[in-house]
Amino acid sequence: MTVHFIGAGPGAADLITLRGRDLIAACPVCLYAGSLVPEAILGHCPEGARVVNTAALDLDAIITECMTAHEAGQDVARLHSGDLSVWSAMGEQIRRLKAEGIPVSVTPGVPSFAAAAAALGTELTLPGLAQSVVLTRTPGRASTMPEGETLANFAATGATLAIHLSIGNVDAVIADLTPHYGADCPVAVVYRASWPDQQIIRTTLATLKTDVPEHVTRTALILVGPALAGEGFEESCLYATDYDRRYRPQSADSEWSSWQHGDD
Ligand SMILES: C[S@@+](CC[C@H](N)C(=O)[O-])C[C@H]1O[C@@H](n2cnc3c(N)ncnc32)[C@H](O)[C@@H]1O
Repeated sequence: MTVHFIGAGPGAADLITLRGRDLIAACPVCLYAGSLVPEAILGHCPEGARVVNTAALDLDAIITECMTAHEAGQDVARLHSGDLSVWSAMGEQIRRLKAEGIPVSVTPGVPSFAAAAAALGTELTLPGLAQSVVLTRTPGRASTMPEGETLANFAATGATLAIHLSIGNVDAVIADLTPHYGADCPVAVVYRASWPDQQIIRTTLATLKTDVPEHVTRTALILVGPALAGEGFEESCLYATDYDRRYRPQSADSEWSSWQHGDD
């Protein structure tokens, strides 16, 4: 018996891995984080499966569900939105399950920042503008930030910022970022990326506050940085005609010629 943690993706029912879908179909128990996991994904559960929305449960109750399934020898599909590596609360569940001797597996999912970038049709690492993406958030009611992980500190790098869980905190986002990026820095807010009611708001730090519609109060990402303009960047060397590289050596005496001939 295993508890399979599965990234359920950002919202669209077909943005889940084949492995994740097949695991859901094979598990007689499914625990899902109901606030963000789309109901359509639950359609992969086998008939008669025990399907539990954990939105109203505390950690003890979730672990009790897993222990009950463990005693019955039943595999569990544990679904969280997006990918499990960020803000999934998977860490604390795995710690408890390991202490109980219950085996776990982890299947990744499409994270919301990637779905948002896809919705925008934007590469977040454009040569000459940004070569790093910072996945971060601002402090919330239940979550403080470790010292040093401030927006201002990340902004000092000039990287593209993907700010989660912060659409209710735009005043702080604007105040912390404007000194570093400038008021005219491009910003994109993607609300419910990949859901049928997805909405994209392209704005700047100067106009962010007024441009976010009133109904956008959760499930939105704020992307900030010069790469969001999608212009003014350099072409990468990767596909440059005269760039000497392993898979496209430019001459017989190129250091990469031997690779081309299978000389690994
Ligand atoms: C608890 S975190 C979960 C993050 C998730 N594990 C991931 O991989 O993206 C929830 C936050 O992720 C962002 N988010 C999740 N799904 C989203 C979506 N479909 N569109 C935009 N933002 C989303 C929002 O910032 C939301 O407040």
